[in-house]
Amino acid sequence: MNELNFIHRFVDGDGNNPLTLLLLHGTGGDEDSLLDLGGQLATGAALLSPRGKVLENGYPRFFRRLAEGVFDIEDLKARTHELADFIDQAVENYHIDRSKLVAVGYSNGANIAASTLLLRPGVIPNAILFRSMLPLEPETPPQLTGTQVLMTGGRFDNMIPAALTEQLATLLKDAGADVVLDWQQIDHRLTMHDVETAQKWIVEKTAVK
Ligand code: MLT
Repeated sequence: MNELNFIHRFVDGDGNNPLTLLLLHGTGGDEDSLLDLGGQLATGAALLSPRGKVLENGYPRFFRRLAEGVFDIEDLKARTHELADFIDQAVENYHIDRSKLVAVGYSNGANIAASTLLLRPGVIPNAILFRSMLPLEPETPPQLTGTQVLMTGGRFDNMIPAALTEQLATLLKDAGADVVLDWQQIDHRLTMHDVETAQKWIVEKTAVK
């Protein structure tokens, strides 16, 4: 057994659903924040939910930022590799079928999931990114053929500039990923439309009914 160096929850699947959802919370969340959402997205799937290690005024995040929307890129890179190593170790320790792993990130959690796709391609094969943006420009273009990504954005989200959401989608597509980008006339908050879009996408893309 490797040491798993993030505080996290692991909820085993019910044996009928082969998926494992990797839940990545937003700023101020923790390992419990997205468990209910995970259960709604894929009934009976296993859930792996780490808590971000960076504290901003006491609120957990997955990487440091200098101001809203201004990221500490060196910290982001280091934290991305740390999270990717955690995922690799959790796959081994919990006997997770990596092809059935779906990252589900919201806001800051979606941004570190995007960074993981860009810096450590292959670690996350499927990703749902709620309210995400291009977190950094990778030095070498990733190879993401076979990677499935759903992105949902809010046109009135003042934390996540729409242009940076579009840039992330373009970069992922150029890298070979299959990207679906869904827009709503809404702000940063998640809606039932986000949940239903993700439920349908999971069934369609992972072929799990
Ligand atoms: C970030 O810092 O990742 C984004 O600004 C979203 C957030 O505030 O969590």
